Amino acid sequence: MAMVCLSDFEAYAKKYLPKIAWDFFAAGADDCSTRDENILAYKRIHFRPRMLRDVSMMDIRTKLLGTEISFPVGIAPTGFHQLAWPDGEKSTARAAKAMNICYIASTYSTCTLEEISAAAPGGLRWFQLYIHRNRAVSQQLVQQAEALGFQGLVLTADLPYTGRRRDDVRNGFRLPPHMKLKNLEGAFEYGLPPNSLDPSVTWNDIYWLRRLTRLPIIIKGILTKEDAELAVRHGVQGIIVSNHGGRQLDGGPATIDALVEVVEAVQGRVEVYLDGGIRKGSDVLKALALGAKCVFIGRPALWGLAYKGEEGLQDVLRILQDEFRLSMALAGKCFAGCLVLVIQRFCKQ
Ligand code: FNR
Repeated sequence: MAMVCLSDFEAYAKKYLPKIAWDFFAAGADDCSTRDENILAYKRIHFRPRMLRDVSMMDIRTKLLGTEISFPVGIAPTGFHQLAWPDGEKSTARAAKAMNICYIASTYSTCTLEEISAAAPGGLRWFQLYIHRNRAVSQQLVQQAEALGFQGLVLTADLPYTGRRRDDVRNGFRLPPHMKLKNLEGAFEYGLPPNSLDPSVTWNDIYWLRRLTRLPIIIKGILTKEDAELAVRHGVQGIIVSNHGGRQLDGGPATIDALVEVVEAVQGRVEVYLDGGIRKGSDVLKALALGAKCVFIGRPALWGLAYKGEEGLQDVLRILQDEFRLSMALAGKCFAGCLVLVIQRFCKQ
């Protein structure tokens, strides 16, 4: 089977993954309107391409909080990579390092943070945190991530409770017994209790995190200008515009639509990133042109792992990279670092 675009990997994963794992990866909340809207919204945005602009030399590199990456795409935090490939997050870390991009490792990884670090020493990694009721557990994870050389702390803000994903309820989804939430193994004697996350988290907890670590704090799950302003005022270094891939509140905006008001509110004070619905290089270009510094992929990374582990994920990233480079050139732009200045205007239908 020739793998030409990201939907080829999606089709492969759907065909070959056990149904329960496929359903878990694909799930959105309720009737999945926000999940689907994340993708549809890109189709309503159009480029104003410019011609005859010498695109013979392309530079698609950019920087994430000062660290250079090969192109403006990273791997969003998703749990349970062993459901896609036996080596799980170790393969993800290797692929991200090989491509010189950022991998955000989830609290709900099926490999330990040590294993992830050892699999790809020196790779650019951020750690994604869910705050647990037992704060000592979260504190220990943050400090461990910093000690292991993770370079950013991503606080996920949109999951005080888990959204209702109907297929997971129907399937009675649980991790198979031989897979473990390795980073939480010691913390909960009988596995992760269903209500272990702390729903009382507020903006003040950013100050709590600030006292725990010197890592830059990036807040994930922001969708409004009001929250973007609060994030800046509470001293975060980055914002990920995200609706958790449509797995939390159904009926919220597509992330590419929410991006515009967040970028306007932030006015360049912190870096703004986006995830949700990125499936093509031209989607990446649209997000950058609307002010995102970098985007992250969730499900497509899992499809790549399901196809061939580390190699499959690299294939996904290479296709996205080639598509992005080509879209940039065809739109008349050769430097990814300053796209905003050049392709800022779109016609919305
Ligand atoms: C997620 N997401 C997520 N986010 C997070 O902060 N911590 C996590 O552990 C997870 N786990 C997770 C599992 C699965 C199977 C999915 C699909 C998503 C959300 C993720 O980081 C990201 O916001 C979305 O996946 C982006 O949308 P796309 O790229 O999947 O459309």
